[in-house]
Formats: sequence, C-alpha cells, structure tokens
Amino acid sequence: MTLKNTIIISALAISISMFGQTKKQNMLYKNPNTPIEKRVNDLLKRMTLEEKAGQLNQLNAGTETGPLAAHDQKVPNIADIKAGKVGSYLNLEGVALTMKYQKVAYEESRLGIPLLFAKDVIHGYKTIFPIPLAEACSWDLKIIEQAARVAALEASASGLHWTFAPMCDISTDPRWGRVMEGAGEDPYLGGLIGAARVRGFQGNLVDGKHIMACVKHFAAYGAVEAGKEYAHVDVSRFALWNKYLPPYKAAIEAGAATIMNSFNVFEGVPATANIYLNHTVLKQKFKFKGFAISDWDTYTEMINHGYSADKKEALEKVLNGGGMMEMNSSLTINLLPQLVKEGKVPIKVVDDAVKRILYYKFKLGLFDNPYRYCDFEKEKKDVFNTQNREIARKAAASSMLLLKNEKELLPLKTKTKVAMIGYYAKSKEDMFDFWIAKGDYRQAVSMLEGLSTKFPNLSYSDGYLADASTTDSLIQAALEAAKNADVLLVNIGLSGKKAGEDRSLASIKIADGQQQLLKALRKTGKPIVALISSGRPQVLTQITDLTDAILQCWIPGTETGNAVADVLTGVFNPSAKTVMSFPYDEGQIPVYYNYFNTGRPTTPNGSGDWFSRYRDIPNAPLFPFGYGLSYTSFEYSNLKIDKSEFSISENVNVSVSVKNTGKYDGEEIVQLYIRDIAASYIRPVKELKAFEKIALKVGEEKLIKFTLSANDFSFYDMDGNTLLEPGNFEIYVGGNSVEVSKLNLKLLK
Ligand code: BGC
Repeated sequence: MTLKNTIIISALAISISMFGQTKKQNMLYKNPNTPIEKRVNDLLKRMTLEEKAGQLNQLNAGTETGPLAAHDQKVPNIADIKAGKVGSYLNLEGVALTMKYQKVAYEESRLGIPLLFAKDVIHGYKTIFPIPLAEACSWDLKIIEQAARVAALEASASGLHWTFAPMCDISTDPRWGRVMEGAGEDPYLGGLIGAARVRGFQGNLVDGKHIMACVKHFAAYGAVEAGKEYAHVDVSRFALWNKYLPPYKAAIEAGAATIMNSFNVFEGVPATANIYLNHTVLKQKFKFKGFAISDWDTYTEMINHGYSADKKEALEKVLNGGGMMEMNSSLTINLLPQLVKEGKVPIKVVDDAVKRILYYKFKLGLFDNPYRYCDFEKEKKDVFNTQNREIARKAAASSMLLLKNEKELLPLKTKTKVAMIGYYAKSKEDMFDFWIAKGDYRQAVSMLEGLSTKFPNLSYSDGYLADASTTDSLIQAALEAAKNADVLLVNIGLSGKKAGEDRSLASIKIADGQQQLLKALRKTGKPIVALISSGRPQVLTQITDLTDAILQCWIPGTETGNAVADVLTGVFNPSAKTVMSFPYDEGQIPVYYNYFNTGRPTTPNGSGDWFSRYRDIPNAPLFPFGYGLSYTSFEYSNLKIDKSEFSISENVNVSVSVKNTGKYDGEEIVQLYIRDIAASYIRPVKELKAFEKIALKVGEEKLIKFTLSANDFSFYDMDGNTLLEPGNFEIYVGGNSVEVSKLNLKLLK
C-alpha cells in the first residue's frame, strides 16, 4: 500500500468514526448536560426487550459465593456483553479486568450501556476491618462510617461500583453464622449503624471514591429457625415492623441505592417475589427509589421453595412480585421477552426496573466516563496503604470487649513475662473469615506477631490443633511454655472459617479441647487472660471460672495482633459494649434484652414456681446486651427528668452525671432505655432509645443530657402505622441493659 493510500484510508476511518461520534453525541442520553431522568427515558425508548432483559441480568465472574449450576459462566462472555445481554457482574474486579470488559460494553455494544461491577465488600476490601458485628460493639458511628469509607475507597480504586453491604438483619440467634455480618440484636442501634455504613460506602456517590451500598437481606433473614442457615422464617407483621424492619428502613432513609431480596419466605411467599415486602413496604411505605437485586439464585429457588412449578413461572412471579435485577441464575435473560410477549409480565414492570438501574449508571457517571473507576495509579495508591491500616487498627481495638478483669489484671506492663498459647494466635488463615473480599491473610498481623513485638520475652505454644481439639503432648508443651511466664495469654474460640454464610453451628460452647487446655493451665495458679477469637458470641459459662480476664477479640482483620497488643497493654483502654447477648447456655437461644414480659413474667434469676423459666439454667444471659468493661470505672449519679408529666408532643429531657472513678482515662457508653407500661400492643421490657459515647479523664465528671421526642415513644402496628399513645413509661439509664437506674414518666394526651 502506498503512503497516499494509507492517508486516504485513515482519513476515511477518522471521518466514519467522527460521524459515529456525532451521531452518538446527538443522542439525548449521551449528553452529560441533560438531566438524568430525561437521559434514562431517552435511552429506554431506544432499547429492545432483549436489551432491557440484559440490564436486569447480573452474572458471576469470580469466586462463587453460592452453589454453581452447570450453565454458569466461569469467565465473562464477550459476545454476550456486545449483545447487551449482561448489565452487571459480581466478583469481576481490578482495574485491568473491569476496564477490559467495560470497553466491550461501552464501545462495542449497540447502545453503549456500561456495566456495573459489584462485590461483597463486607468489612474492608484489601485492608480488612473487624467483622461488622465486632465493629458495631464500638457504638462509634464515626469509626463505623469511616471504616465503610475506606472500604469504598479501596473498592472504587479497584474498578468496583457497588458493594453488597450493609447487612441489616436483626438476629437473636448466635448459632446463625451470619450474625458476624450484622449489627446485633437491637433495632434502634442496628438502624443507626446501618445508616452510618451507607453514608460511609456511598458518600455523595458522584466523586468516584465511593460505591453504591446494598441493604440486605430484605427482609427478616436473621429470623431463620433455630439459627440454621437458609431455614424457614415465620415472623408476624408485628415482629416484622417493630423488630426486623427498622434497620433496613434507617439504611434506606440514609440513601442506599440498592437493596437485596433475602433467601427466606415471609408469610409463605419467598421474599424475592413477595408483594407485601417489595411493593407495600419498600415502594409504598419506605418510598424506595433505588433498585433491588435478588440474592444468589433466589429466582430459581422459587422452585425448591415449592412456590413455582418451573423457571418460567418463577420469573413471572418474581417480576410481578417486585424483583428487579437477578443475581447469577439467568432466568431473566432467557425468559423475560417471552413472558412480556405473552402478556404475563406487563412491560411497565420491566421498564420500571430497568429505569431504576439505568438511573444509577448515569448517576455514577459511567455514561460520561465508563473508566472513571479504572485508574492504575489510584489502585496502587489507595489500596492497602498505611493510612487505611491505621484506621483498621483503631477500629479493631474499639471493637474488643472486655468481659472480665479480676483484680485489675489488665492492662499488662510490657515487661511482664507472658506465655502466648493457642493455635489460632499464630494461624493467620484461621484469623480471617470468608467475607474478606481481596484481603490476603498472609499480609495480616497475627496475634502472636503483634504481641511478640510488645512483649519481647514471650514464649509460645499451640495448645490445640486447627480443629480446636487437643492432645496430652500439646497440653504438656503448653505447660512448658507457661513455666517461666507470669501471665498466660490463651487464645481460644473459633476459627474465622466458622463465621459467615453457611456456617451455622448447633453448639457454640468453647470446644472441649480448649476447655481441657484451660483446666490444665489453671492448675499452674498463674493468672490467665482468655483472648477469644470468634465471629459470634459463644457460650463462655464453662470458662469464666478458669480465667481471670476475658477479652472478646472477635475477628479483628488485618491489624489483629497490633490491636490486641494495644488493648492488652493499655495503649487503648477497651470501651466496647456487646450488641448481642452472650447466652448462658445454648438452650436459652434466642436470648435478647428487649424481650416481652408474658403473662407470667420472667425474672432474671428468680426462684419460685409457675413463671416463665427453665428449671436447669437461669433466664439471664451470661453477659447482657450493652455490657462491656473498661480498665477504669464509672459512677452514675443524679438521674433526673425535667418533669414527670409531659404532653405527648413535648420533648422529654433526661440528664445523668457520669464520673470516671478509676485509674485510667477511658470512654463510657451511656445508655438510655424506655419501657412502655401498657399499650394497645405489648411492648418490650426495655428498648434502647438513646446513647452517648463519652471520654472521661481520671476523676472527670460530665453531665449527659438526652432529649426524647414523640418518635422515641412510638411503635408500629401490624400495618406499619406509627402509634403514639399516652400513658406511663419507665426510663432507665446506665452502662448496660441490666445495671440501670430508673425514673417514671407520664405522657398525657
Ligand atoms: C449472600 C449475599 C451475597 C451474595 C453474593 C449470597 O449467597 O447471601 O449476602 O451478597 O451471595 O455474593
């Protein structure tokens, strides 16, 4: 080819592509100056039914997080993306990969609709934070928000637009493996935490440093029978509105872009196709404007539930029941056009779902620059850096619960001779759970590493095996390691691998092997600190007397060892309070502080006949909701209310003085609970309504003021209507849900 020919061909190519550009620019939806709603409508008009189905189709492209079916794609199919048959991928991440596939969608598909890339970024992306349940125990909304912001920063720098978090499922059953992902048993606190996480993940959603949140699992997934994963759920509307819905509602009100339908049924209908949940509650009552994604395969699971005879009927029921984007199972892409043509699914239902999804693709700026999350420099700079790790370290220390500290054994001086015993203390693999996104356990600081830097004379021994069983020789070796030590630090609990989805456990006692180990060590007469790793509250009854101090460390993430060392040495004075009751025995489960009185009221440890109790164990949990110690002590006094009778529309002011009476500066979480004595529906014996986390220097005293308004005294009826009723109330204030002082109050009409 001559030079002249080449120039002519190139010029032709440029003018053809410019013509293409101009044509595209003339399309309203391509014009960044047009309001999003108009762009969405313009684009929708141009879409075929098949392309609409494509927008509702999310496929997996990485590690599976649910069962695989034979038809599942392992790698993205370029031809499908070009044909507009996929709207989103989960588990496709990293700048290089997301850029590669985004390019196909944006530059080679007919309408150039960008893809959404999603992943479970549950407690960090590469810098792993403490599990959400642990973080919730900090009651520190700022830290919680900040942790989500760091996770979003790292995820967005790695090409992702969307996380499947926060999990807002209330659960009162620690046998359920997923309690680790939530914020505990309280609807009010759960709502504040869910909202903080949404704010952290999403920010303003347009700066390229944040990602969409997904409030999950809608709804009442945490109520699975007997804590068994994927089991049946049977809750009343009364429980739904008053116990389960408040956290989802608060997170949605904080602006969450998406929600995820849960695996379970509600009133006999799978949540994914449940008209009451998806239309009445979500769209009408909550005025939710975002979009819904199914959970993994929940469309096809309609068949297993016995709610649909085949895939086609399943899809018909889901779409008419409020389902929008489908995760993994591909019914939509294969069957939706047919259902619409047969008149079984109205096109307006499909259009509504597609519009909601497109709206967010525009809002994230993907139509104007589909590669704005694909920046190699940012990926290097923003992910797993020192700053992010510092925040994770603080979050981890803030989440650790001091449950016992006899004779002020803790904090320890760094010159103390300590023995560290426990296999999990050195096993980084067991320290991490399943939901660690891109976290690499090899980069984490184990307990052993963290403590070795603070206590140079530390001796170590495994004490038990990976499965928590032990042998005589392991016990002998542990005793040997203990010989020259003054204090024994014993790491027990559960491997991180036992936390999360599909990790329900019938027995949550401390393993026999670990108990045997503690018994043997106890005989040395040396003080024992139990450092408990676990993704849930376990039954600690058998080990409390075998230990002098107990620190519930949970699953603290990348900075495990450093954070544990900070707490043990008093660099960080523990300030967490548990957000889930620690059962005295598995037989008590579900056990929670905000129970109902019944006609034969439960007394915590009372005796006597004919009242609601067990004959072999107490009613009270081992450690109640809101409980947690500090190295210092706090004294509460002067609990006051400005009047004892209020009109229903007035604010109620309650104040209390809190003084640091111990030897260390510290933080206290001052908690306020109410009880509605008689109402048109029964009310719990206590309900958390306010709290404040305060810092007090040694000897310092602060006056804490709480203002309660009508909202705090109201509750829901079966249909989600708010009821505010005059009558007598009790107000309790204290440092946990049991040790409280009481005031009376009357609300007048
Ligand atoms: C879980 C969801 C998760 C999804 C995608 C499902 O098995 O229930 O919480 O977001 O998988 O990984």
